[in-house]
Amino acid sequence: MKHHKVPLIGLLVIAILITGCNKDSTNSTTSGKTSVKGPPVVDQALAFKGEEIYNQNCVFCHQEDAIGKPGIAPSLTNKEFLSIAPVDFLYDTIAEGRPGTGMPPFSHLGKDNIESIIAFIRGHAVLPDRIKEVDKQADAHGDARLGEQWFHQVCSTCHGPDGNGYAAGGTGTAIGKKGFLSKVSDGFIRTTIKEGRSNTRMLAFSGPAALADLSDQEIDDIITYLRTVPSKN
Ligand code: HEC
Ligand code: HEC
Repeated sequence: MKHHKVPLIGLLVIAILITGCNKDSTNSTTSGKTSVKGPPVVDQALAFKGEEIYNQNCVFCHQEDAIGKPGIAPSLTNKEFLSIAPVDFLYDTIAEGRPGTGMPPFSHLGKDNIESIIAFIRGHAVLPDRIKEVDKQADAHGDARLGEQWFHQVCSTCHGPDGNGYAAGGTGTAIGKKGFLSKVSDGFIRTTIKEGRSNTRMLAFSGPAALADLSDQEIDDIITYLRTVPSKN
């Protein structure tokens, strides 16, 4: 029996070391810290608690595993979305909701609970985190008049004629409203238009396989137009 002792103790030490290391690299839900070229690292215990709170408050609209439901609520676990959505954007959207849409404010849940939901959501990420790069992209410089024409040709069937979202009967969210526009960078909007969101009705609008192959300038025209919409409503 004696010769078993050393390896067992050795294993214990290794286990403690590993647990210790994990503690250092987690707790990243609010800082947005990421592992190298991987999806964000989230605190598992926090994510577990978040799932419970999610199931009590959000699942009714956003569905099991937050996959969303067309015309009811968007997916929160879509991979392209999670690779570009900043923690602040998630936090503020959850706390403040989106006025004039079906997304209610949840500030009453408190900071800790909201952070745990964010850990749960971000725990579904599979693509490398691109949040900082996308956020740093240049602002759109385009022609709002042309953008409006593109919007009405290509986007309004789903997002509504003024970007009103579900209220107009489509399946796209309210991208013409302040609740969305005031919280996202042009890079976030641009990347979403170019790449779409897989397994949702939001397709890619750039490249030969796209529904409409919009040029970078045309996409910037649309973003420039979208930025003018809230003041018109
Ligand atoms: C066939 C329907 C459809 C078309 C056409 C469409 N979208 Fe979307 N779009 C969606 C859906 C659906 C979502 C949300 C994905 C989900 O439900 O999970 C979305 C999401 C978005 C988002 C992210 C919004 C958010 O709430 O985070 C942006 C930005 C966007 N679309 C821009 C556009 C633009 C610009 C166009 C036109 C070039 C366009 N979309 C065309 C269906 C569409
Ligand atoms: C009554 C239905 C409903 C409930 C409950 C609800 N949401 Fe939403 N949520 C929505 C709708 C509708 C939207 C899209 C609004 C729009 O058109 O812009 C949305 C949008 C969002 C977005 C933005 C997603 C994107 O693609 O940009 C986040 C994040 C979000 N909800 C998180 C939550 C969380 C977390 C909870 C629970 C604490 C929750 N929601 C509860 C209906 C709901």
